[in-house]
Amino acid sequence: MKRSYYIAGNWKMHKTRAEAAELAKALVDRLKDGKHKYLAAPSFTSLETVAPIVKGTNIRLGAQNCAAEEQGAHTGEVSVLQLKDLGVQTVILGHSERRHLYKEDDELINKKVRLALSRGFEVILCIGELLEEREAGRAEAVCQGQVRGGLDGVSAGDLGRVVIAYEPVWAIGTGKTATPQDADAVHAFVRKVVGGLYSPAAAEQIIIQYGGSVKPENAAELMAQENIDGALVGGAALKADTFVPIAQFG
Ligand code: PGA
Repeated sequence: MKRSYYIAGNWKMHKTRAEAAELAKALVDRLKDGKHKYLAAPSFTSLETVAPIVKGTNIRLGAQNCAAEEQGAHTGEVSVLQLKDLGVQTVILGHSERRHLYKEDDELINKKVRLALSRGFEVILCIGELLEEREAGRAEAVCQGQVRGGLDGVSAGDLGRVVIAYEPVWAIGTGKTATPQDADAVHAFVRKVVGGLYSPAAAEQIIIQYGGSVKPENAAELMAQENIDGALVGGAALKADTFVPIAQFG
C-alpha cells in the first residue's frame, strides 16, 4: 500500500495577521473532510493568530525555520522553545531560500534538524539541486549530500518524525515543474539513500513531498507517481482556491 499523502503550504514572507487568519479559516472550512495530512506554515508573526484557528483540526501548524540554538544572544532568531509555546508542531528546515539566499549549509541545517527533533517537532527537510547542478548531471549527488548532511546523527527512531521535501531549485516559484517522471526518479533515488542510511523499512515509510510550482493542474499527476507522497506548495498555497484543489487532488 502506498504511504499516506501529506500536503503542506509554505506561506513564505506573505500575509498580515488578518490575511493569514482569513486564509486559515477558509482552509479549515474547506478541508474539514479532506482525506490527507495537511500543514499550514505562516510567517512567525502570524503563528499566534493561526494557531487557535487550526487547533484540533486536520491542519497542522508549521514554522518556516528555527534557530540552531535553543536560546541566548541570537538577535533576530526564533527558538524552538518559542515555537513550541505557540503550538507549532512542524518546522520546515533547509528550504532552498534559506540555503541560497541566506547561506545556510548542511551543517547548520543539521544542527537545526537535530534540535527540532529533540524538542519533539516534526521536521520537513528540504533538499534540491540548482539548475546548473542538474545540467551538469549532479542532481542525485547534490540530493544525496543534502540528505546525508541533513540527517547526520538523526536516530532511526527520530526519523519517523522526518519528512523530506524534494524541491528542484529551478522549479520553485518559476512556473516550471519537473516532469512527474523526473521528479519520481529523484524521489526513488532519495528513498534509496534513506534505505542505505537506515533500513529498507525506513526507506519504504518515509514521506517524500515534491515542491516546485505545484498547482491544481499538475497535482494529481505528480501525486500518482510511486515515490511522491505529497507536496510542499508555495505560491499556490496563498489562496484557498488554489491550495484546496491541490490538497484534494484526484
Ligand atoms: P512554489 O514554492 O510552489 O511557489 O514553487 C514551493 C516552495 O518553495 O516550497
